[in-house]
Amino acid sequence: MTLSDLNTLLAARHSCRAFRPDPVPREHIEQILISAGRVPSWCNAQPWNVVVTSGTETERFRNALREEAMSGAPAPDLPFPTSYSGVYRDRRRECGWALYEAVGVERGDRAASARQMIKNFTLFDAPHCAILSSPAELGPYGAMDCGGFVTAFTLAAQSLGVATIPQAAVASYGPFLHRYFDIPEDRLILCAISFGYADKDHPANGFRTDRASPDAFVDWLG
Ligand SMILES: Cc1cc2nc3c(=O)[nH]c(=O)nc-3n(C[C@H](O)[C@H](O)[C@H](O)COP(=O)(O)O)c2cc1C
Repeated sequence: MTLSDLNTLLAARHSCRAFRPDPVPREHIEQILISAGRVPSWCNAQPWNVVVTSGTETERFRNALREEAMSGAPAPDLPFPTSYSGVYRDRRRECGWALYEAVGVERGDRAASARQMIKNFTLFDAPHCAILSSPAELGPYGAMDCGGFVTAFTLAAQSLGVATIPQAAVASYGPFLHRYFDIPEDRLILCAISFGYADKDHPANGFRTDRASPDAFVDWLG
C-alpha cells in the first residue's frame, strides 16, 4: 500500500446522487463495515451504530421517509450549522451550483432546486441505506469519531466499486427515525449513508468537487 494507492482511492470516491437498483452482496457490505470500524476513536469507544437496510426494507423506508419529508417538520438530533460564511459559504454555493448545472437546474429556479433536494428523501434511489448514530453521552466527540467511520465506510465501499453518499438531510427527521428504526433516545442520529452501484451516465454523477490546497488551511510553525 502506497500513498499513491490511497490517493487513487480518495480521488475515485465522490458523492453519488443516482444509483442503479442492483443490490450489493451482503459479504461486501460486511467487509465495508469491518473496514469502517477500523478507524480510531477516543478511548477506543467505537461509538458508531448503524442500521443497514436492503431490499424491501429500503423501499419501505424510502416511502416512509418521503412521506415524512413532505409533511413533517425538520428536527435533527444534532443541531445543523447555523450559517456558512466566508469561504465556507463560497464552497457550499460552488458545490450546489455544480450539481444544479450538471442536472440542468437554472440558477434561481427554486422549484427545480427543491425537486433536486427532495431526492435526498428518496435516497437517490439507492438500494441500501445505513443510519448512523452515536451515544448522546459522548457528545461532539462521539460524533467526531463517527465522522471517521463515515470516511472509512465511503473509501472501503469505493475500493469494492460501491458508490456512497453521506446524507445529513436524512437526519433532519430525528424523531421519525427514532420511531421508525426503534433507535433509543440516548443515541444521536448523525446522518445516513446511502449506497449501491452508481448510475454512471446520470447527469447528477457528472461533476466533481474541488479541494483547497494545504496553503488554505495550514498555519506552519517552525
Ligand atoms: C456528513 C456529511 C453529510 C452530507 N450530507 C449531504 C446531504 O444531505 N445531501 C447531499 O446531497 N450531500 C451530502 N453530503 C455530500 C457533500 O455534499 C459532499 O461530500 C461534498 O460536496 C464533497 O463532494 P464529494 O463527496 O463528491 O467529494 C454530505 C457529506 C458529509 C460528509
